[in-house]
Amino acid sequence: MTRLLITGGRPLCGAAAAGGAKNAALPMMAAAILADGPVRLENVPRVEDVRTMARVLSGLGVECAWQPAGELLLRADGGRACSADGRLVRRMRASFCVLGPLVTRRGRAEVPLPGGCAIGDRPVDLHLAGLAALGADVRTDGARVVASAKRLRGAAVDMTGPCGPTVTGTANVLSAAVLAKGETTITGAAVEPEIVDLGRLLAKMGARIEGLGTPTLRVRGVDQLGGAAHRVVPDRIETATLLLAAAVTRGDAAVTGAAPEHMDALLRALDAAGFHVEVGGGAVRLRAGARPRPVDVTALPFPGFPSDLQPQWTALMALADGRCTVRDRVFPSRFAHVDQLRRLGADVARRAAAALVTGVGRLVGAEVTASDLRAGAALVLAGLAAEGKTVVRRAGRLDRGYERLDEKLRSLGAEIARRHEPLP
Ligand code: EPU
Repeated sequence: MTRLLITGGRPLCGAAAAGGAKNAALPMMAAAILADGPVRLENVPRVEDVRTMARVLSGLGVECAWQPAGELLLRADGGRACSADGRLVRRMRASFCVLGPLVTRRGRAEVPLPGGCAIGDRPVDLHLAGLAALGADVRTDGARVVASAKRLRGAAVDMTGPCGPTVTGTANVLSAAVLAKGETTITGAAVEPEIVDLGRLLAKMGARIEGLGTPTLRVRGVDQLGGAAHRVVPDRIETATLLLAAAVTRGDAAVTGAAPEHMDALLRALDAAGFHVEVGGGAVRLRAGARPRPVDVTALPFPGFPSDLQPQWTALMALADGRCTVRDRVFPSRFAHVDQLRRLGADVARRAAAALVTGVGRLVGAEVTASDLRAGAALVLAGLAAEGKTVVRRAGRLDRGYERLDEKLRSLGAEIARRHEPLP
């Protein structure tokens, strides 16, 4: 078990670099299954989820190798396997993104159903309905999905669910439609920058896609896709987490190699809270002044406030000068961090799909547990601001999506150390 030991109270200052977006890199890696030729991805973050995806793909006969210059080279040439490793898929939902590429390129996919997780119920009905609309024979036995098709056929597919468009569902259906016969129209498509980036990679491989970044995608299927080289977009969630670390400690820090154009909702919320934010040359700088003002946010699909930042925003608001409400309309039960923040002295209450936050003047260090990646990030932020020592248990969960977060925070002046201990 990994723990992070934090001594809080130091304002974070200086500059740190953002890495590539995990949630763009993962479906791109799965899309390598489609290519008759090597796919070379630059700026892939070295996070646990990427390692897990590489293992899933290796099991499917896709060679994944880090190159000396740091890029990830994927070669699916000749691979025929269709059955994804159950333990790995259950460990990481995003490995479900191999479903579309496998069925469209190899004619068959057997992928375990990923099930729920710490951030709530996470069905895959829209992924399955989308592939069925493209003509795949999709069967589930409660534990796994078996999808097969000689060749998928273009069709009209809608990706809108009860909480908005599905991000990885859009990735799965888009990655399948590119090799289908004829034209596919995907309505209610996710417009997240990571999906746009996936579409750009697919286009470089030879796919014909119109409407990227809009809710309607038109895909004209091609017979074959080739290899391609692509640089993954910067990780807007990592960038934001670092900025929020500066905000919560009332520091002054810049994040370089970022894509501030993908971060409007957060930058607006920071501005409303009274932080001074400057953007330019792919960098974002945040300067804190007085105690933050309370700002309500509601997590929504892009370009709304990201659900992946809702826990970290709650941590910042725990120290605001007043009350606010943080809602999540994407994952209405993503509030496991609330009880843990209370252990640090935060005045936060859970009400349905919202956290009611009454800012307090100070947080005090305590022992807390990271239930998942972003809840863990929220606890780290709160620990950096709290007086005294905070221990974040199960901090390995942060490594799933943050590359060396503790090192980056240390480079900004945080007092944070990592300890590995065997499980009791
Ligand atoms: N939904 C359905 N049916 C489906 C799929 C989704 O009803 O078939 C619902 C979900 O229950 C949820 C909403 O639709 O209420 C949105 O879920 P979505 O499918 O968009 O989430 P996801 O694709 O599984 C991705 C990210 C998440 C991020 C969400 C929302 C990846 C690999 N994961 O998940 O990232 O929170 O979109 O933006 O891209 C993270 O990085 O920490 C993380 C959880």
